Amino acid sequence: MRGVVICNAYYQTDEIMYQPRRLREEFSRLGVELTIMSASAFPFCVEGGALRSALAGYDFLIFWDKDKYLLAAAEAAGIPTFNGYFGVTACDDKMLTFLALADHGIPMPKTLPGLLCYRPEKHVLKEASDRVEAEFGYPLVVKESYGSLGRGEYLVHDRTELASVMEEVRLKPHLFQEFIAESAGRDLRVVVVGERVLGGMVRTSGGDFRSNLARGGKAEAYPVDEGAAQLSLKIARLLRLDYCGIDYLFGKDGLLVCEVNSNAFFQGFEGATGVNVAGAYAEHILAKLAADGRRAER
Ligand SMILES: Nc1ncnc2c1ncn2[C@@H]1O[C@H](COP(=O)(O)OP(=O)(O)O)[C@@H](O)[C@H]1O
Ligand SMILES: [Mg+2]
Repeated sequence: MRGVVICNAYYQTDEIMYQPRRLREEFSRLGVELTIMSASAFPFCVEGGALRSALAGYDFLIFWDKDKYLLAAAEAAGIPTFNGYFGVTACDDKMLTFLALADHGIPMPKTLPGLLCYRPEKHVLKEASDRVEAEFGYPLVVKESYGSLGRGEYLVHDRTELASVMEEVRLKPHLFQEFIAESAGRDLRVVVVGERVLGGMVRTSGGDFRSNLARGGKAEAYPVDEGAAQLSLKIARLLRLDYCGIDYLFGKDGLLVCEVNSNAFFQGFEGATGVNVAGAYAEHILAKLAADGRRAER
């Protein structure tokens, strides 16, 4: 058995590569060779009307990039993918995540998709600002739909700030969201692998409203109660994810989903909780492949 993990070609810092390296280590312990491949290997090509794949010799693909074309190609080529196209694309875009989870009894902050803009004409801005202001009041949160690591998140306090942030994000997909004041600078990350909740950690910022570890937040293990565990499993199931890190805000009536990360970094989580995330994910992948193999034989 041989697997491959595809990583983004541009971002290959130690912090990012920790994840694929730990996965390689855990697979090796289980007797499986895992190759780390950069997306710059261009593993797929459409040629002569057919899809050509350089991954034919691998039994599974762990996708640590977010390039939907690569993942669509992998699925078309028939290689088992972890996570799959549906989950990765639904999580990459924060608005699509909320739309996929809506009407399933999942608590989320009130959220309004931003307008799609192709040309930087200004006349729509006033109308849009009036609506956003009436819907949320201040402060409110503006997020780039494809933001991560706390980048592309804005806490907006008044009309002047709203105008400048809307100008800033106008040509990027974005959303407007209710600010959950009770959770300012604090959130809960729950990690799920297959049908198991591996644990939780609370992240606390040193002053910023964003608690991301990448922005200096501090992590501490946090017990996940039965309600939060069942909610997390339901979210992973709805988004068809084999692995994810779900970020929750602490609302006044309980947890609210902030976002779901299909490629959640787990270095901070392993450090804070002592849980072997890479090992659990590797075991899950092998168990799922074995079960699928048995099903195919029947
Ligand atoms: N609506 C909100 N109310 C209060 N805090 C928020 C809200 N949305 C995000 N945050 C804070 O900002 C952080 C980053 O937001 P998140 O949506 O998880 O984006 P990223 O992909 O950048 O991690 C969260 O972990 C949380 O601390
Ligand atoms: Mg987050």
